[in-house]
Amino acid sequence: MQTVNVSAHAKIILIGEHAVVYRQPAISLPLKTIRTYATLKPTTTGQIIHSELFNGDLQQVNDRLNGIKQLITTLLTRLATIDTPFDLTITSDIPVERGMGSSAATALAITKAFYAAFQQHLDEQTLLATAAISEKIVHGNPSGLDTATDNSQFPIYFIKNQCLRPLALNINGYLIVADTGIQGQTKKAVSAVQQLMHQQPQATNQLITKLGQLTNDAVATLANNELAQLGAIMNQAQVILKQLTVSSPALDHLVATAQQAGALGSKLTGGGRGGCMISLTDTKQHANTIAQQLAQNGAKQTWIVPLKND
Ligand code: PMV
Repeated sequence: MQTVNVSAHAKIILIGEHAVVYRQPAISLPLKTIRTYATLKPTTTGQIIHSELFNGDLQQVNDRLNGIKQLITTLLTRLATIDTPFDLTITSDIPVERGMGSSAATALAITKAFYAAFQQHLDEQTLLATAAISEKIVHGNPSGLDTATDNSQFPIYFIKNQCLRPLALNINGYLIVADTGIQGQTKKAVSAVQQLMHQQPQATNQLITKLGQLTNDAVATLANNELAQLGAIMNQAQVILKQLTVSSPALDHLVATAQQAGALGSKLTGGGRGGCMISLTDTKQHANTIAQQLAQNGAKQTWIVPLKND
């Protein structure tokens, strides 16, 4: 084993969360400057993890790191032996459980670190499939959107098990991402939608299908620089996400704040019930004003993301 330093970036879902679980399309964007870092070193004894959520031996990890434990066990069995000593440090700029892809970025960084440390070639398909080992434990039945976006250099258009293609953005606008500071509850939110699907199949299906249509409408606005239309689509998506019970008072409050501050559209992003929301505006200056208003009205952290591909 050799010492390696690797990283993976964050993501946000522009539109299509929850519907994507039911094979509707979603659009997501990489946030390349917000990252998780993994440093893996050889050591003589122990299988040691240093991280924000846990410090200690792999065998003693708390429940929240069960996915990581399973992932590392698989990687060691595949690349070396299950008892190989190692020293792994994870640090991250991505807030945990806020819909910004923190768990997927951690899984990707760990997978890349072990392959690099054992000097093994890692193709993209293997990377995504391996990172999915821990994502399945963390999220239950993930669509794969998080892992795919955290590993993509470009925005992507995604349909579960069907389509993953880069999306060229020809739109001059800015997104403001704001964190409620409350941990999202992706797993619970996904099962709440599943329950709705059992209880009211027709109505729920209609909402999910409508979200899919909105995603496809959004593709056209992104290609044609139709900022106001994109904003309106985001607002419609937020209404549906609320009907699916995955928003929260804190998210609704930030959405209302951004709208009052002049945003063109605002919605939650990711699993919901906490986590982050996003807002659309036309200029950097307006983005700063909206971000300030959001911070003054309870957002714990904000980021401004230009929409044009760099
Ligand atoms: O909360 P996040 O960022 O992990 O996003 C979850 C997105 C969902 O569509 C709700 C679930 C999924 O697996 O795609």
